[in-house]
Amino acid sequence: PLGLVTIPTIVHVVWSRPEQNVTDEQVASQIETLNRDFRKTNEDVAILPPVWAPVAADADIEFALVDVTRTRTEVAAFDTDDGVKSARTGGVDPVSTDTHLNLWVCQLGGGLLGYAQFPGGPAETDGVVVTYTAFGSTGTAAAPFDLGRTSTHEVGHWLNLRHIWGDDGDGCGGSDFVDDTPNQGGPNYGRPTYPKVSCNNAPHGDMFVNYMDYTDDAAMVMFTRGQAARMAAALRGPRSGLLA
Ligand code: ARG
Ligand code: ZN
Ligand code: CA
Repeated sequence: PLGLVTIPTIVHVVWSRPEQNVTDEQVASQIETLNRDFRKTNEDVAILPPVWAPVAADADIEFALVDVTRTRTEVAAFDTDDGVKSARTGGVDPVSTDTHLNLWVCQLGGGLLGYAQFPGGPAETDGVVVTYTAFGSTGTAAAPFDLGRTSTHEVGHWLNLRHIWGDDGDGCGGSDFVDDTPNQGGPNYGRPTYPKVSCNNAPHGDMFVNYMDYTDDAAMVMFTRGQAARMAAALRGPRSGLLA
């Protein structure tokens, strides 16, 4: 067992309009949310349908903010093309990706909340990106993505978690390679009511309260034990540089 792992985290704020230059307080609110969600100390875990309480996990991962960089850009909105991750394209380069989480905050275009790079990719683009209106839980954070869960979801990907519905559209053949998440058709949005059945997963149905679904921030409250084990495997394997 790994025990508690603390991930040194660098936040890169990249802004063209002043409100995108989110405050240190807003950055702190995001780190607090990550720490609560990955330690299962989030109070809203209480909304879980009781059937899933036994699999809700403390992932034993914490985040320590070690630096905040601030970069002014001419780019009005960034895309999923990693442009924000390089000074050459109006962003800022990552730092020490073997040993640190790099988290960029900027304006993303097209309604995109965030994106992440899975383990094993190029160092130059390693990390997660979150749009400034879905970052943290104060300041510019806007409902229904104002509880910092976009970063929780994206850091889940960065630690090798797949979407809970198996990334096969609405089909029942895809897998997230985790045993204790139900087989689920497609993504859920908004705030579903229990039970939401798909893919013969009655009576309990989809685990739409999972951070790796697409529901509103107020509806997603848990990782499972299996997801925590998959993240721990990433920390023992391709992300072992994070183990100080
Ligand atoms: N990559 C997803 C998107 O951009 C993030 C979904 C996060 N969901 C949330 N409730 N914050 O759509
Ligand atoms: Zn995702
Ligand atoms: Ca599916």
